[in-house]
Amino acid sequence: MADTQPRNVLVTGGNRGIGLAIARAFQAGGDHVIITHRSGEPPEGLQAVTCEVTDTASVDQAFAAAEEIFGGPVEVLVANAGITRDTLLMRMSDEDFDTVIDTNLAGAFRCARRAATGMIRKRRGRIILISSVVGLYGSPGQTNYAASKAGLVGLARSISRELGGRGITANVVAPGFIDTEMTAVLPDEQKKAYLANIPAGRFATPEEVASVVRFVASDDAGYITGAVIPVDGGLGMGH
Ligand SMILES: NC(=O)c1ccc[n+]([C@@H]2O[C@H](COP(=O)([O-])OP(=O)(O)OC[C@H]3O[C@@H](n4cnc5c(N)ncnc54)[C@H](OP(=O)(O)O)[C@@H]3O)[C@@H](O)[C@H]2O)c1
Repeated sequence: MADTQPRNVLVTGGNRGIGLAIARAFQAGGDHVIITHRSGEPPEGLQAVTCEVTDTASVDQAFAAAEEIFGGPVEVLVANAGITRDTLLMRMSDEDFDTVIDTNLAGAFRCARRAATGMIRKRRGRIILISSVVGLYGSPGQTNYAASKAGLVGLARSISRELGGRGITANVVAPGFIDTEMTAVLPDEQKKAYLANIPAGRFATPEEVASVVRFVASDDAGYITGAVIPVDGGLGMGH
């Protein structure tokens, strides 16, 4: 997976969970990495800028700050920031729906749009959108989340068609159930039910998602674009 030179990598929501594992994996591979976080102290040993992905001005500021630190454009964007607001369809408020779409889908759009400027100029770039098995598989109580994550597929594929000729790839990585704070809040009964349907018979670690993201960002993956790459232990097979 050796790349010719270190790239400038920006990971949104890289202060914890899957994003943090992704950031650490790129850093361990020798890339220049900046994570975005919203508040508090960033994780030790990582450079950070603040970013609220629901706010275009904040996204612009975060990229400008990152470009300044890098001394050049972002070459690899990992749009990872995401939230859940689970509840059954009949009980879901407009606000629950809109907030999840605005964060998970529009947030990734804002970051990809901003990243594209520098990537087009460099004629090189990797856009990786972190979706979920739920985006194509569906999940009761997650209409908002599933819709936002399915939307990322159309986003990545349209970017691929627009920018594929400029050395830029756009792909979706779709994790299954990963041990993070997001899944820690699931009721035990629900976890058991999910586990029963996962061929691998276990949840994954954030590092297992990170290594796939690194591959998709590598020179070796230059001919992969518009793809949905599952990291789900087989849960979403065929979807
Ligand atoms: N865990 C899983 O099983 C799983 C499975 C499939 C897909 N995913 C996806 O993988 C990604 C990471 O999940 P995770 O489990 O690592 O989640 P997590 O531990 O809850 O972390 C979510 C990250 O997103 C950031 N974030 C949330 N809303 C934001 C906003 N409006 N602006 C900027 N940053 C925001 C959070 O920042 P703060 O720390 O400031 O809140 C945090 O860094 C998400 O997109 C999630 O949907 C997770």
